[in-house]
Amino acid sequence: MTIHSRISGTGSFLPERIVTNAELAKTVDTSDEWIVERTGIRQRHIAAEGETTANIAHQAALRALDAAAVSIADIDLVVLATATPDNTFPSTATKVQSLLGMTHGAAFDIQAVCSGFVYALAIADNFIKAGQAERVLVIGAETFSRILDWEDRTTCVLFGDGGGAVVLEKSEKEGILSTHLHSDGRYGNLLYVDGGPSTTQSVGHLRMSGPEVFRHAVVNLASVVDESLAANNYQRSDIDWLVPHQANLRILTGTARKLGLAQDRVVVTVDRHANTSAASIPLALDEAVRDGRIQEGQLVLMEAMGGGFTWGAALVRW
Ligand code: UT7
Repeated sequence: MTIHSRISGTGSFLPERIVTNAELAKTVDTSDEWIVERTGIRQRHIAAEGETTANIAHQAALRALDAAAVSIADIDLVVLATATPDNTFPSTATKVQSLLGMTHGAAFDIQAVCSGFVYALAIADNFIKAGQAERVLVIGAETFSRILDWEDRTTCVLFGDGGGAVVLEKSEKEGILSTHLHSDGRYGNLLYVDGGPSTTQSVGHLRMSGPEVFRHAVVNLASVVDESLAANNYQRSDIDWLVPHQANLRILTGTARKLGLAQDRVVVTVDRHANTSAASIPLALDEAVRDGRIQEGQLVLMEAMGGGFTWGAALVRW
């Protein structure tokens, strides 16, 4: 029997506090008009003081476990994607493991910035297909508000905090059809954090050459989408739902246009969540599953691009 892996439950969590563009315009030289026109972002959620990536991930995980109707005893692996861990170590995944009361199995973080969830899903899928795990909690959670330079209008308006999770389990039925991961470290200086334990011994701030990242994103995303379709002998017209990383509405609509996909087949949350890095895909996925847009049997394509550069896609039969 071929071993497959399927998503059996999704969950997400957003910090309570919402910050609108108008509120940001009071502290940096920006405007609601500029942010909406250039990015599609209208607001973002920002973590409260003391509310950490692990807390957010924990809440998202509880909701995913509930949706999958499984208990923590049934989970044998936690893979958490984040670029904003609570601490340099231990991993945020082990903190979440502890918050969940899980003392068995294994938990680790992975770091691929905005592509983190696709990377984590690929790892979990491979663990299951290799027979090394049966039920994996896959989480993307971030508190980017903590690494933003709140005086830099070119970056601080773009990001938000949040988390999403899925339960991925061994199945006889097809689910994750394939995953495709890429990176090219030559472009590390276009999107990075100017600090870290081994360089500055500080946390640092996010720095981005926005227009250059934009140009690469459009090309890399289109190519990885086609790669994932070709690997499964599907056409662009076979896609039921595109669940993309949410960086900029212009990138989302551009990708949909290239795919010949109607705009209402793209799950969009960037207007309300802004860019939540590794959390953006599981947040969008959870929304579209819970409101009934994504239905059993449909073809769902997830894709992302982020710092590194890293990029990737996952094609899923729901
Ligand atoms: O998640 C990982 C992947 N990340 C991405 O995919 C992000 C990709 N990049 C982008 O989404 C866009 O490049 C941005 C949204 C970051 C920027 O949009 P843009 O249309 O590329 O604008 P720009 O950087 O070329 O800036 C245009 C102008 C500049 O002014 P001048 O030089 O023309 O006078 C900026 O200084 O807009 C100015 N500007 C702003 N104005 C008001 C930049 N940020 C702001 C701001 N408010 N917040």
